[in-house]
Amino acid sequence: REAQIAVTVNAARPGPTIDRHIFGQFAEHLGSGIYGGIWVGKDSPIPNTRGIRKDVVAALRAIKVPVVRWPGGCFADEYHWRDGIGPQDKRRSSVNTNWGGAGEPNSFGTDEFMDFADQVGAEAYVSVNVGSGTIQEAADWLAYMTADPSSTAGKERAANGHVAPYKVKWLGLGNESWGCGGSMRPDHYIDLMKRFARFTHNLDPKQGEKGPEPMQRIAVGPNDGDTTYTEAVMAAWKGHDWAWNIEGLSMHAYTTGGWPPSFPSVGFDETGYAKLVKAALAMDGMIAKHSAVMDKYDPEKKVPLMIDEWGVWLAPLPGSNPGFLYQQNSLRDAVIAALHFNIFARHADRVRMTNIAQMINVLQAMILTDKDKMVLTPTYHVFRMYVPFQDAQAVPVSFDAGTYTQGNVTMPRVDAIAARGKDGKLWLAVTNLDAGKPVRIEAKFAGATPKSARGEVLTAAKVDAVNSFEAPNAVVPKPISGTVAKGAVTLELPAKSVAVVEIGG
Ligand code: AHR
Repeated sequence: REAQIAVTVNAARPGPTIDRHIFGQFAEHLGSGIYGGIWVGKDSPIPNTRGIRKDVVAALRAIKVPVVRWPGGCFADEYHWRDGIGPQDKRRSSVNTNWGGAGEPNSFGTDEFMDFADQVGAEAYVSVNVGSGTIQEAADWLAYMTADPSSTAGKERAANGHVAPYKVKWLGLGNESWGCGGSMRPDHYIDLMKRFARFTHNLDPKQGEKGPEPMQRIAVGPNDGDTTYTEAVMAAWKGHDWAWNIEGLSMHAYTTGGWPPSFPSVGFDETGYAKLVKAALAMDGMIAKHSAVMDKYDPEKKVPLMIDEWGVWLAPLPGSNPGFLYQQNSLRDAVIAALHFNIFARHADRVRMTNIAQMINVLQAMILTDKDKMVLTPTYHVFRMYVPFQDAQAVPVSFDAGTYTQGNVTMPRVDAIAARGKDGKLWLAVTNLDAGKPVRIEAKFAGATPKSARGEVLTAAKVDAVNSFEAPNAVVPKPISGTVAKGAVTLELPAKSVAVVEIGG
């Protein structure tokens, strides 16, 4: 028998904006995340624009990617940008020591990344090398990207094909400096962070600190629930002087179910599903914990929390190189993505950017490629379904979620958010976490009179259903509509499903 859940949507009380950057992406030089996934080279038989895959760009445009973080990850703290500019045949090749000791040809460098971001229609989030690079190297990189074409740095960029300064909206000051970025004590990191923040200037007057679209600098922050870096960076920010500032605090939190990651990405049962879904819900408490620390130093919420690495991190797919972090992507992962969006939206006053790890062929990917083949994952489809929530105004939703128990794991049965989109339309997103039971949602509204309820639902026969190169459409959204009577909407949701519905009025 299906469960029944009563939901109340209060459209009369709009809340904070759900920043579109919450739906951001992360692409690192790791496995085939860049090489093969994005970059195939100009001479490839795979259709490309200046070396960048056309199929991948078209798919990413459809999910309106707001921002891409690059070049890492751990890779960023060993990246030397000069290796990746200029004529392709003169580029220095190196070794990717973080990820499987793979050869790094540096054929995808700054100009290629900016071209890619431009083709996708996304903003660039560039992480500078704080771990093994110098402040001068980072400053020179910023100059290369943003200086006027009349300057030496700008002339070099122009000679490489791009006269106008690039837009660098986001700048990461290191990556995981408490770990792969140098295992730094917080005090050591903070001293470095201040100097990088002070001396790596965006030289485009439009993007400088006083420009109309200033670049935002993002400091390394916490790992999971550990508040050590949160406390230290925020205390330094509170006492900061005119010479430096940061405009964001990074947080990394993966859903692993334990370390090292051992949950398989294919061939698991409902117990494997329930354990990982429950683990994903811990994101809410972690954000609340860091937000409370940030509120102490920054009650006006000037510094956003940017969860610039999140997602399910599973055991490597059997037969793949463990250093390449290649995993399949199932209906379970799509449910987990939707739950993350709901959590982020509920913390929209503090969480203003997130970047799923990672965009293509790595961890919880949107897209998997194999030579000329491409497949869109269930997680991709959830990103597309949630597009109306980009820059939408959150609307409070109240409900008694009930409970779903699988073995010895108990969690809420449903989750929901609502928002008034930029298009003026009212949107309701509901996830039925229960792997076995459908649910009937009875939604009542204040401040809106529904006349229709139509949208899409993502589900499959089994929790471990995936899209493969052989069967690319096994898990794809299908139309769903609710019935409307006496100002209330009834929606029948299948077990283990994600639905996004427009409430027409
Ligand atoms: O996303 C994979 C890795 O996870 C990143 O390189 C690093 O920042 C994190 O530990």
